[in-house]
Amino acid sequence: MSAFNQETVLTVKHWNDTLFSFTTTRDSSLRFHNGHFVMLGLEVEGKPLMRAYSIASANYEEHLEFLSIKVPDGPLTSRLQHLKQGDSVLVSRKPVGTLVVGDLKPAQNLFLFATGTGLAPFMSIIKDPETYERFEKVILVHGVRYVSELAYHDYLLDDLPSHEYLGEEIRQKLIYYPTVTRELFRNTGRLTDLITGGQLCNDLDLPPLNPETDKAMICGSQAMLNDTCDILDSLGFTASAHTGDVADYVIERAFVEK
Ligand code: A2P
Repeated sequence: MSAFNQETVLTVKHWNDTLFSFTTTRDSSLRFHNGHFVMLGLEVEGKPLMRAYSIASANYEEHLEFLSIKVPDGPLTSRLQHLKQGDSVLVSRKPVGTLVVGDLKPAQNLFLFATGTGLAPFMSIIKDPETYERFEKVILVHGVRYVSELAYHDYLLDDLPSHEYLGEEIRQKLIYYPTVTRELFRNTGRLTDLITGGQLCNDLDLPPLNPETDKAMICGSQAMLNDTCDILDSLGFTASAHTGDVADYVIERAFVEK
């Protein structure tokens, strides 16, 4: 049996010249935890060309959703960016990953720190009822270079709070904090600077980050992960070493070189 399911593209949305998202059918046997990733790709010259992609849809949804950059000479995304409704993609049968709320100790607040396409796994996690059972506040911080890279911005602000089942919890508990580094916006600066300078918690009217009350999940470039982990470590947060190791924060590299 093949390691991949063949899925059909249902919708495609281009956010700007460098970023797009798409939805596909979902094999009824595919099970995953919100925050997990799969290998996704295309058959090229008779062989599967696959890259890791976080699943942006929640595990109770009928379809799968993915967020991708477009790299002009990227072996996969130079092709993937031309996907149209009805096209086929390959999706691995065994989702995996370390960004799972079950690996976090109980606390009041959950901080989700994302840059770029690192937002994708958190789109799934913020639609998970378990996230709101475990935490009183969920703070989604998304850092990008340009405003046009704030994928799902309007969905997060306008649509999700009126979600059929989760709307009320989301209105009470989810705080979306987008920040832009290379042009003017209501929040600007790298999320690392916003943490260390105190601006993030100030803006949110929350006390400074503290492992007693706060837990975190991080997804971004290797440099962003290193810097954010250093900050959390210096504040006394412990990192989960592997799946099943319950700690103060979990991390996953955003899968970008495509
Ligand atoms: P900047 O514009 O200052 O480089 P990228 O597309 O390079 O992954 O960047 C996405 C966002 O992450 C940008 O806003 C970028 O800011 C920011 N960023 C890049 N490196 C880091 C880092 N080491 N720590 C925090 N944010 C970072």
